Amino acid sequence: MISLRNDTFLRALRREPTEYTPIWLMRQAGRYLPEYNATRKRAGSFLALCKSPDLACEVTLQPLARYGLDAAILFSDILTIPDAMGLGLYFVDGEGPKFERPVRDESDVARLAVPDPGAELQYVCDAVATIRTALGGRVPLIGFSGSPWTLACYMVEGGGSDDFRRVKTMLYQRPDLMHRILDVNARAVSLYLRAQIAAGAQAVMLFDSWGGALSDRAFREFSLAYVERVLRELDSQVPVIVFTKGGGLWLEAIAATGCDALGVDWTVDLGAARARVGARCAIQGNLDPMALMASPEKVQAEAIAVLESFGAPGEGYGHVFNLGHGISQHTPPESVSALVEIVHSHSAQMRRLRVSASSL
Ligand code: CP3
Repeated sequence: MISLRNDTFLRALRREPTEYTPIWLMRQAGRYLPEYNATRKRAGSFLALCKSPDLACEVTLQPLARYGLDAAILFSDILTIPDAMGLGLYFVDGEGPKFERPVRDESDVARLAVPDPGAELQYVCDAVATIRTALGGRVPLIGFSGSPWTLACYMVEGGGSDDFRRVKTMLYQRPDLMHRILDVNARAVSLYLRAQIAAGAQAVMLFDSWGGALSDRAFREFSLAYVERVLRELDSQVPVIVFTKGGGLWLEAIAATGCDALGVDWTVDLGAARARVGARCAIQGNLDPMALMASPEKVQAEAIAVLESFGAPGEGYGHVFNLGHGISQHTPPESVSALVEIVHSHSAQMRRLRVSASSL
């Protein structure tokens, strides 16, 4: 086994001391990079790109060639699971993901089965293994899945949604059906993440992108309970990050699932989050992705404000810098250079200041 040259990200997740704050960005390989668009064109489509382990590996490494990022994330999508369930995933340009056979009624739900990660999803595990080899221990590789609830949103809606009308109608009108979908999804997600870890993923992240669309009670019953179940069934040997977009109200409850890190969006004050759960979990986040549209100077000022809001480094520091959601396709690539550079230099300086203050 090749040893890791840069394990700053894994140490921060374990809340161990680091020389600087590690950074990676959600959707770091994506359409804001011209080289990504070129590879996607060669692949023919986004799905073909996801399903080719060699091309998925190529795009995973692209942002690492440009920037000093501290982690790689598997290039794939959360919708691989419902696709493997036979729902017929496709993408319409400008409209996002769609399913040919959404899950709408009792007979659709009855047909759902847990996909075998060693069969329908083998291409994802092959991509993980290919990327691990290509990384050669440069930085750790993150695997991921959607949360049971977030997958259910796409499966029932048949695509993205502004108001979640269909999935919430089922939740209120037929909670029994909703729970059956979530039960299948929870088993599918835990098996899928286990397979990614077996193939070489060194940390995994659950994207609960639509947990924040639920009422407090519904969140606990239909999202959080199943995140908890995934974590229990996964019984992970590698760190697990749970990201609930819009989940700022529930940090203590999410931390109680036993995850190693909480992903937070930009509405959360990191100092307050640290005071609430920082003794239990590392915290990942949370620059507003749209801040990257401003000048490099403004990007740097905003990044410093995020670092300072988390507060002074010390015992169990546990901050992983990230955006509060995926990077926009309209992001100027130079903004990302400015961001990575300032996060590394300013966070190293915060540590030096603390060392010199404590030796006075
Ligand atoms: O972070 C990374 O770099 C890893 C790759 C990754 C992608 N999607 C690549 C992608 C990850 C982790 C995801 C997760 C994902 N996919 C989520 C959860 C995170 C979130 O944003 O809340 C969700 C909800 C999806 C579903 C999905 N896939 C959407 C809504 C879209 C965007 C559609 C659009 O046209 O804007 C996708 C497509 C997608 N996934 C792209 C990428 C790079 C763009 C596809 C393209 O090249 O056209």
